[in-house]
Amino acid sequence: MAKGPRIVVLTGSGVSAESGLSTFRDKDGIWAKYDYRQVATPEGFAADPALVHDFYNQRRRLLKGIAPNAAHVALAELEAGLSAAGGALLVVTQNVDNLHEKAGSANVLHMHGELAKARCGLCEEAGEWPGDLSIDIECPFCGVKGAMRPDVVWFGETPKYLDEIAGALARADQFVSIGTSGAVYPAAGFVRDARALCIPCTELNLEPSDNAGAFTERRYGKASEIVPQWAREFLAE
Ligand code: APR
Repeated sequence: MAKGPRIVVLTGSGVSAESGLSTFRDKDGIWAKYDYRQVATPEGFAADPALVHDFYNQRRRLLKGIAPNAAHVALAELEAGLSAAGGALLVVTQNVDNLHEKAGSANVLHMHGELAKARCGLCEEAGEWPGDLSIDIECPFCGVKGAMRPDVVWFGETPKYLDEIAGALARADQFVSIGTSGAVYPAAGFVRDARALCIPCTELNLEPSDNAGAFTERRYGKASEIVPQWAREFLAE
C-alpha cells in the first residue's frame, strides 16, 4: 500500500475552550486569576504544596463533567482515516486534559503531562490519579508520604517526549498548530523546525498567534468549526 501522508498536529488550550475549559492567556484565562509562579513552578510547590494541590484538584474535578468538542472528534476521525490510507496522525498536545483520548484519538503525546496522573517526587513513579491529591497521601509505589505531585510539567521543567516529537516532525508531510498562542517554548518553536525542513505548516486558531507569520496557511475561527472543515478538505485531497 502506498504510504499515506504523515501529519503532526500540535494543540493548545484553545482546542478545549468550547468544551468549557479555560485557556491561559485570554482575558478571562487561568493566568489572569492565578500567579503561575505560585501554582505552576517547582519553587511554588515547595513553598506551598497545599495551594498547588488545590489549584490542580479544582482543574482535575472539572475533567469529569466535560466532553470533547467537534475539533477533538475531527482529529480522531482524521487519525483513523489517515491510518486506513497508510498514513499517520500524531497529536502532540500541550493540554493536560484527556479530551483527545475521550474523542477517540489513540496517538497522543502530552508534552506538558496529564492532570489525571500523579507522580512521586521521590521515586519518580507515576500512575493514573482521578481523585484529589494532598500532602497527606502516601506514594503507592514507595510508601513515602507527602511527595506526590500532579504529573504535569511546570515552568522551568523539561517537557516530555521531545525526542519522539522531533523524530515525528522530521518525518512529517504537514504540521498543523491548533488553539495555541505560540507563547511557550519549545512547543512554539515546532513551526520553525518544520519550516526549516520545508514542511507545509497550517495554523488553525481563533486569532493570529505570536508566530502566525511562520505558517504557510492560516485559518481563523472557532476550533469546533474550522478544524472539522480543514480535516474534511485534507481527507478529500
Ligand atoms: N477556538 C480556537 N482557538 C481558540 C479558541 C477557540 N474556541 N479559544 C481560544 N483560542 C486560542 C486563543 O486565541 C489563543 O491563541 O487559543 C489560544 C490559547 O492560548 P493560551 O491561553 O496561551 O494557551 P496555550 O497556547 O495552550 O498555552 C501553552 O502555556 O501556561 C502554559 O502549560 C501551559 O500548556 C500551556 C502553555
